[in-house]
Amino acid sequence: MAGERILFVDDEAQIRKLVQTFLQRHGYVVTTANDGYEALLAIKKERPHLLITDVSMPNLSGLELTKRLRAEAATARLPIIMLSARKQANDVLAGYAQGADEYVAKPVELAILAAKVELILKRSKMAEEAAGVAPTARGQVCLFLHGKGGVGTTTLAVNSAIALASAMIYRVTLLDLSLEFPNAALLMDLKPQRTLADLSDVRIEDMTDDLFDLFIAPHTSGVRLVVGADRPELAELVTVPAVHHAIDRLRASSDYVVVDSAATFTQHTLAAIDSADVIFVVTSAHLASLKATTDILTVLEKLGVPKARVLLALNRTTASGLEADPVTRFFGRKPDVTIPFTRPFDDAADEGKPLIMTAPQNAGAAVMRDLAAQIAVAAPVTH
Ligand SMILES: Nc1ncnc2c1ncn2[C@@H]1O[C@H](COP(=O)(O)OP(=O)(O)O)[C@@H](O)[C@H]1O
Ligand SMILES: [Mg+2]
Repeated sequence: MAGERILFVDDEAQIRKLVQTFLQRHGYVVTTANDGYEALLAIKKERPHLLITDVSMPNLSGLELTKRLRAEAATARLPIIMLSARKQANDVLAGYAQGADEYVAKPVELAILAAKVELILKRSKMAEEAAGVAPTARGQVCLFLHGKGGVGTTTLAVNSAIALASAMIYRVTLLDLSLEFPNAALLMDLKPQRTLADLSDVRIEDMTDDLFDLFIAPHTSGVRLVVGADRPELAELVTVPAVHHAIDRLRASSDYVVVDSAATFTQHTLAAIDSADVIFVVTSAHLASLKATTDILTVLEKLGVPKARVLLALNRTTASGLEADPVTRFFGRKPDVTIPFTRPFDDAADEGKPLIMTAPQNAGAAVMRDLAAQIAVAAPVTH
């Protein structure tokens, strides 16, 4: 095996160079970090296939780094080798206790390290395949974000999910992470038996496909719906690991996981941003929404989300609002899609029958198909 990304963390420059060169010669792509804190940032940007970390380091030690990675669902399974000069049994045990997969003593015997690297990578690949979440079998995640409520985010998420499922014959799941004001179920006239808030009763490790079926409500369009919470007071029961778990599980059985979100930057939204292959930021043509949208775009930039993954939808939810030119000037870019003011969206919502199904000829419905096509182009299904 070769080509896997390895992140090597050590505060000593000489060792970084030595190990990096050695592993590169074995065909791995090796990046380095000076301490645990730098490592966390690097992992957030791009997840490696394997982490090798020293234990004693300034800022954030290897033990603390491992502990933090294990606490996050996204990195809970990241293979970790710990490297340390401290050979006492206690240190080895502390490393394992924090979740390290292997412990290699310093001074490093490079041949031993290489053997362990190969073994661990092989093991983790087999585990991924067994869990059905091998990278090649992963559906694409399309996240809808908005800085201000009422700009039609849920409307766009629901209709484009249906467009992807029907006209384009993809397997699509809609995940409603607008925890306090969930609307997708209403728009689709569905009621899942369980919500992610119920996941607090079930240990995630004990979750099975049969059990998870209770969380999925099938819609006549073919879209499957999963909701975070169905009552505002239950929103706080939805944990971040539950969100990661749901996204991981759903993307293993869908071509697209479309995620609707709340208008606030919660940990849940951040978790979804982390997994997203493409993000649609939805704005109305009114100043308050435009301003909130620039804030969102700035945050995404700060989080290091590549610009090519971020699309802008201008949704004319009212008959008034700024013209196209001032909106383009405001953002310094044209919206990728503009949805015209479409009164029937309201009736569709009240009746629980998405417009794209009841009035496919409507101009608003046609734009929803265009939006779905843009998702398919920006995040093509690769399997
Ligand atoms: N293009 C549009 N034209 C007219 N009304 C719209 C349009 N898009 C959405 N709406 C209406 O705006 C309201 C808010 O939509 P919703 O999708 O719930 O927004 P959000 O999820 O951003 O809070 C709904 O009543 C919906 O029917
Ligand atoms: Mg909404």
